[in-house]
Amino acid sequence: MYSKGLSDLGVNFDRAHIDHHNGLSIEETIEQIRTTQSYIAVRGPEHHPSFRELHRVMCEDIGKLMRTNGTGERPDSAEMWLFIASPGALTPFHFDRFSNFLLQFRGSKEVAVFKPWNDAVITPQQYEAYTARSDRQMVWSEDKDAFAHKFRFHPGQAIHIPFLGGHYVKNGPEDVSISLAIFYDTEQTQRFKHALVVNDLLRRRLAPLGLQPSAVNSPGSLDWLKSGSYPWIKSVANMKSRVSALWQ
Ligand SMILES: [Fe+2]
Repeated sequence: MYSKGLSDLGVNFDRAHIDHHNGLSIEETIEQIRTTQSYIAVRGPEHHPSFRELHRVMCEDIGKLMRTNGTGERPDSAEMWLFIASPGALTPFHFDRFSNFLLQFRGSKEVAVFKPWNDAVITPQQYEAYTARSDRQMVWSEDKDAFAHKFRFHPGQAIHIPFLGGHYVKNGPEDVSISLAIFYDTEQTQRFKHALVVNDLLRRRLAPLGLQPSAVNSPGSLDWLKSGSYPWIKSVANMKSRVSALWQ
């Protein structure tokens, strides 16, 4: 996927490659990346043999960290993303639907990371809607910046961005930026993700009755019950869509 280098922190990052096309082919974008204010994201480079070993080693390293921290045995659904961006390009404010390590190879960055579960930065409703549906857009306003932890990021450095931690990135002006992220799940991120999706559904179903569910990760939210019901709700939703397809 590739797009114009973005200049607004409030842009919908998921749709940038559709809404902000740079008008060039991918070959032209790569050749002119120094000057065209462009942004390239390569999903799953580990499918190419040159990245496969790096992916294996990183999964091993993450597994070691997880065992040390007591967060599981090994990463689940680990997928790499390679990012190549023009000098000065910006990654809008968003959160990843995974836990993430970001590694810088070339160029510099300022990475602003926000602690998860801070309602002043991302509300419970935004967490639910953005996790459940890919067409949702994160809301950015300058007052949130007071909560940012900002890191100057240079080649050879890596940073962990926690699951649900909002973040934005400003590339430095001096060089093309090349970085690599590895996204992965743990049992805990899966549980939260499923509880958020179920809460999104509950919130929409209860709203006409004037009711709303407790926010995920809040006292009394019964997250274990919400995440436990996710496979059942998903299979009912799949069945409903198959039945409605039969009638179309
Ligand atoms: Fe991200």
